[in-house]
Amino acid sequence: MKSENRWPRNCWYVAAHAHEITESLYARTLLNQAVIFWRTADGNVAALEDRCPHRLVPLSTGKTVNGVVECGYHGLRFDAEGACAYVPGQDTVPSGTHVKTFPVAERHALIWIWMGAADLADEDLIPDLHWMDAPGWSATTGYLHFNADYRLVNDNLLDLSHETYIHKHTIGNDAVADSPAVMNVIGRRVVRVHREMPNIEPPPFFALAQGHDGRINRWQIAIYMAPGFNMTEVGFHAVDTDRLQDHLMMRPIHIITPETDHTAHYIWGLTRNFRLDDEKLDAGIYDQTMATFNEDRGLLETQDLRMQAEGMPNLPNLSVKLDSGPVQGRRLLEAMIKRETDDPNYCEPPGLLADDDVVTMPFAMAAE
Ligand SMILES: [Fe+2]
Repeated sequence: MKSENRWPRNCWYVAAHAHEITESLYARTLLNQAVIFWRTADGNVAALEDRCPHRLVPLSTGKTVNGVVECGYHGLRFDAEGACAYVPGQDTVPSGTHVKTFPVAERHALIWIWMGAADLADEDLIPDLHWMDAPGWSATTGYLHFNADYRLVNDNLLDLSHETYIHKHTIGNDAVADSPAVMNVIGRRVVRVHREMPNIEPPPFFALAQGHDGRINRWQIAIYMAPGFNMTEVGFHAVDTDRLQDHLMMRPIHIITPETDHTAHYIWGLTRNFRLDDEKLDAGIYDQTMATFNEDRGLLETQDLRMQAEGMPNLPNLSVKLDSGPVQGRRLLEAMIKRETDDPNYCEPPGLLADDDVVTMPFAMAAE
């Protein structure tokens, strides 16, 4: 499959956490395109192709000087609009000395980039990930680089039965794989897989979050929005307590942005609605989350290597119920790519990862 068929272009992608972009140059490849980011004097984020039009050296060899980029080879300088501002040794700038720019936006404590047709970029199309910085929520954030096709990472996040086998030391136990899951498609871009786990032993991460190891009622909703936005709503409360009043909820946000055909950026924020300013809990969440996602990374990198060795066959369509979420997610992604292929001006409106109401959704879903 050609790269251009692996992902849509006319949509916003997350390039980085907002705090990662400073006045210094930050290089990152997205969708096989090398890009540099930095903050200009006014604090806005700029994004240019990582390529000097003079000798084609990556601009990331250089540095920023007074808010513009200076190439590391001959010192040509470029501003946030990609215009050449200075050529050493001469007073004029040759015509045609221009660097490609990309539309960027800063929202939800994330830096967004539009890799498709620039005139179609509309900030109203940015998916709602407000939990990353909304009042009443606290986010522990991190980043992992995966040597795997980004679609395999989405598959993994839509089938959380794997927690039982891969994540026994943090979030998994037998109750996960043993509990039935209900899959729904919402609109053109969202798949949701819901699982209830009543009266179970808390896996270690949940014992940490509630502060003891008493039994819990747990729910879990894996939500995917094509091409690479995932949220796992994770809720639980001690048995014999009230679900509405006493639950604790986390909404881990997993943003999977393709880097190349077989590598991906895993930009995550584990958001929660309790113990908001607890730094010790933050540290524990960070360590356990990185340990957990590194377990996924090891497995998915092995899977990708094996699939490449076999020439990237289509995944078998076996009669395995656990696959319903991942299979449906791929269908939505492929349909989204096809709509853009059929009409290059088409931009898919974002779906919703979750209702704004924090506590009613799990009850509505429990009744499905
Ligand atoms: Fe996992």
